[in-house]
Amino acid sequence: MNESSSSNILKRPRRNRQSSAIRSLTRESILIPSDLIVPLFVIEGKNKKEPIPSMPDIYRLSIDLLLKSAEKLHKQGIQAIALYPVIKKDKKNDRASESYNSNSLVSRAIKALKTALPSLCVIADIALDPFTSHGHDGLVNEFHEIDNDLTLDILVRQALCYSSAGVDIVAPSEMMDGRIKRIREHLDSSGFKNTAICSYTAKYASSFYGPFRQALNTSLSFGDKKTYQLDPSNHNEAIREAQLDEEEGADMLLVKPGLPYLDVLYSIKKQTTLPIGAYHVSGEYSMVMAAHQQGYIDCQQTFLESLICFKRAGADFIFTYAANHILPLLNIQAM
Ligand code: PBG
Repeated sequence: MNESSSSNILKRPRRNRQSSAIRSLTRESILIPSDLIVPLFVIEGKNKKEPIPSMPDIYRLSIDLLLKSAEKLHKQGIQAIALYPVIKKDKKNDRASESYNSNSLVSRAIKALKTALPSLCVIADIALDPFTSHGHDGLVNEFHEIDNDLTLDILVRQALCYSSAGVDIVAPSEMMDGRIKRIREHLDSSGFKNTAICSYTAKYASSFYGPFRQALNTSLSFGDKKTYQLDPSNHNEAIREAQLDEEEGADMLLVKPGLPYLDVLYSIKKQTTLPIGAYHVSGEYSMVMAAHQQGYIDCQQTFLESLICFKRAGADFIFTYAANHILPLLNIQAM
């Protein structure tokens, strides 16, 4: 074939889309239940299931019902859940002391889950916001500034406390500097070498967390989180955070929120060999549900597409509230 005839060949990528069989053979990303991590909200009490007004179809569950939900998810192929506690007002204070109480709601939930469902991976958030009276993720000084280094001491206590309860992965989400190194050192020297750390590496100061804060009643009594969470305008800063977390000993990295930050996920994936995940956050979930309730879009198909987009951008795992909506679709993925 001479040059001129080869350049006349009409290239037809469309041939790959002609039948559903060929589409499935040539598909580049797939989504399976074990890609997903399901966040669950836990409350005190028995047989309690409270709807969350800001998050349609999501509930706050007492530990007994949490076990049932987790079992059902696990049977459908979910391998990991992440726990978020709703802490009563009288247990909150400016020292966040409930965060390292070995009999706290989180510790009891971890123990119950690991006893009933030992093969289900349990992840717990390391951050102080559910436990502080002001709603910030760290301790605050008299000038209303976050005290990074004092906070580290509490985070270490919290991580040790959850590890003794049997948690598989601790997930520091408070964006304090140096926390991965400190937590890793203390876990190792206290006999928890196998507890993994999933670092919320690139956690942006985002409005998309609104429904989650309502779910946990953690509204801020002053200020915002811009002094410790990342500026949504920045990309390189996220890459630096990821390098530091990797050096400090993180086992997994997380980018949050999800869809608006796929560029960040893609870049970090390219420069690290660690597994990386995305958090499809509460605001992203609730916007789709609100539009679905208005009849503007179909939530199942929109969620399926969104989650595939995370895989395409390089995510190894995805935290999502949408699991219940899409699990029934995952074996018949025809897009
Ligand atoms: C707490 C935490 C937050 C989320 C996860 N862990 C909220 C925040 O930082 O204010 C948000 C999750 C979501 O919106 O789904 N540090």
